[in-house]
Amino acid sequence: MEETIKYINEKTNNFMPQIGVILGSGLGELADEYCDTAISYNDIPNFIKSTVKGHKGRLVFAEIAGKKVVMMQGRNHFYEGHSMQEITYPVKVMKKLGVKTIILTNAAGGVNPDFKAGDLMLITDHINFMGANPLVGKNDDTLGERFPDMTQIYRKNLINLSKKCAENLGISLKEGVYLANSGPSYETPAEIRMARILGADAVGMSTVPEAIVANYCGLEVLGISCISNPASVAGGEKLSHEDVIKATDGAKLKFESLVVKIISELQG
Ligand code: HPA
Repeated sequence: MEETIKYINEKTNNFMPQIGVILGSGLGELADEYCDTAISYNDIPNFIKSTVKGHKGRLVFAEIAGKKVVMMQGRNHFYEGHSMQEITYPVKVMKKLGVKTIILTNAAGGVNPDFKAGDLMLITDHINFMGANPLVGKNDDTLGERFPDMTQIYRKNLINLSKKCAENLGISLKEGVYLANSGPSYETPAEIRMARILGADAVGMSTVPEAIVANYCGLEVLGISCISNPASVAGGEKLSHEDVIKATDGAKLKFESLVVKIISELQG
């Protein structure tokens, strides 16, 4: 960790971000628009390399609406074969850099029948269905406690702030529970029916490990899903990664304006 932080601080001239953002599939353009310094994951000591199309793999530092922000343009996934500990390392790095609030974003399948492609959903809670937990292993007491409370990962104050920002911009928002599967296969119709029974509104393959670690190390978490498709239904449309990326394209502008507005309104 020391080596990672030292390298980043050298590259950024000790830029101390207050806000961290992880940009999901097809949502990375915010980091093209706002970019003061960009570092490829490949160059950062102890970072893992991003392999998925539609994910760039850069840590981007920028000032947005007067706030210092660090963005991950592209994330690493469990389904790439990395460990839970590896994919959540960047969250710990953000914490060490001084981040207080983290905005986690993703593209997700809509499980709630009221959701359509292009909707934005504030994550109110999650279900970890990945079969693994990033906190397994020896606990680092300097970061957080062994058995962290999980009663309110996605902070009510940030959800309320986001709703106000959306209203201000004339953007309608959904809210709901995000269920994470390991992937990389999409779900079967039976699995989606199960997810609905379990209380999920959206499904995806990311975010939950990062949310667990962020909550564990005391970061305030906000989660936003871009619904890219109705999740798998019997007799429904086939799903492809290309279609998921395309669908997020349609929501990109409102997603970006919402995130920028939220950043501008965040305190501290
Ligand atoms: N399932 C899982 N992950 C996804 C989906 C989906 O339908 N859409 C985008 N990411």
